[in-house]
Amino acid sequence: MNILILGGDGYLGWPTAMHLSAQGHSVAVVDNYFRRKACDELQSPPLLPVPDLGERTRLWQAASNHTVHCAEGDLCVWEFMQDCFTGKAFGLDWTPDAVVHYAEQPSAPYSMMDRDKAAFTLSNNLMSTMNLVQAVKEFNPACHIVKLGTMGVYGTPDIDIEEGYLDVDYKGRSHRFLYPKTPGSLYHLTKAQDGDMLYFYCRIWDIRVTDLNQGPVYGIFTDQSDDEQLATIFNYDDVFGTVVNRFLVQAVAGIPLTVYGKGGQTRGYLDLRDTLACVELAILNPAQAGEYKVYNQITETFTVNELAELILEGGKQAGIDVTVKNIENPRREAEEHYYNPTYTGLKDLGLEPHLLTSDKVARMLEFVARHKGRIREDAIMPKVKWT
Ligand SMILES: NC(=O)c1ccc[n+]([C@@H]2O[C@H](COP(=O)([O-])OP(=O)(O)OC[C@H]3O[C@@H](n4cnc5c(N)ncnc54)[C@H](O)[C@@H]3O)[C@@H](O)[C@H]2O)c1
Repeated sequence: MNILILGGDGYLGWPTAMHLSAQGHSVAVVDNYFRRKACDELQSPPLLPVPDLGERTRLWQAASNHTVHCAEGDLCVWEFMQDCFTGKAFGLDWTPDAVVHYAEQPSAPYSMMDRDKAAFTLSNNLMSTMNLVQAVKEFNPACHIVKLGTMGVYGTPDIDIEEGYLDVDYKGRSHRFLYPKTPGSLYHLTKAQDGDMLYFYCRIWDIRVTDLNQGPVYGIFTDQSDDEQLATIFNYDDVFGTVVNRFLVQAVAGIPLTVYGKGGQTRGYLDLRDTLACVELAILNPAQAGEYKVYNQITETFTVNELAELILEGGKQAGIDVTVKNIENPRREAEEHYYNPTYTGLKDLGLEPHLLTSDKVARMLEFVARHKGRIREDAIMPKVKWT
């Protein structure tokens, strides 16, 4: 298949590009380096230096003999999105059969930092999605959109969370609605809005969409990237680092793991390798014309306290002394709550999860420890408050 990856330079995008090209697909990636520029602006460099896309694709070609096409540009610019769909951006006669849409501002704290970052998050995430839909309609209406959503759109309701839809019986009648959304940051709100937009266009224009409501991802290496030069961008700071990756770096740096508030916040998590498997399964099992498929893309749930406990256990195995500290919660969120999400859809398609164990934590800690000298301790503590 011809597969276009929007946001292909990012934490998930680059490993996805290598994974899909290793399966024999013709893969093209695009990115405007927003993530790298934001890390520079916030003085939060990733743990490992990351070559630019041109260099990454050359390294990948040399390691695997697979070509990944790449182009730099802003997908909120309609002309650039058009060039990606005609192949002009890559010097190819090419149109995608499937698009993986990662190209959004993915950080909750970034979206809550100030007015300009809120405005950027809103416009970037919705405009890139809207341009994508318009390009699909214009150039290949059969093209399947696989968009990365987030479990954070559901919030923490006091009833079970279903996969995307809720069947409601009301006054003797029944109807199937999208599951109600209660996002907890402006970023999460934009992910609810882009999902609503895609559902709208499925109904109006019969486009095909799969929305993968994902939990926080952890990990660095995949089957294609045991070479450090091919590794993904690994952030551990308070803005772009996801919680497990941040805890790993705190443990190695000898800083207490910063548990926000009581630490009873429960979320679903998954290994980076499982993200790649889920995206591939979604591509291989496309939505029908007019269908908006939703999967909950997590493999297990933990409270933050349970995660900290696992890092402690892994630290013991790796010979690293780990401590934990509860700090004032910078976010507004329930710190103890009911949480029972359904996540059977991707397993039914064949997903075989890599679960988080203390052995795995120990291996990740050993990797981070090899790069201890690059850790910027001042980048870790939370600086953005919700109120
Ligand atoms: N990483 C996670 O734990 C996680 C969890 C749930 C959902 N997601 C979702 O997955 C997607 C990817 O997340 P990620 O962690 O890889 O983030 P990321 O920031 O590393 O990747 C996104 C990439 O898109 C690029 N981008 C953003 N706006 C763009 C634009 N207008 N034009 C071109 N490129 C643009 C960025 O430069 C970046 O390289 C996001 O949509 C995020 O909401 C991620």
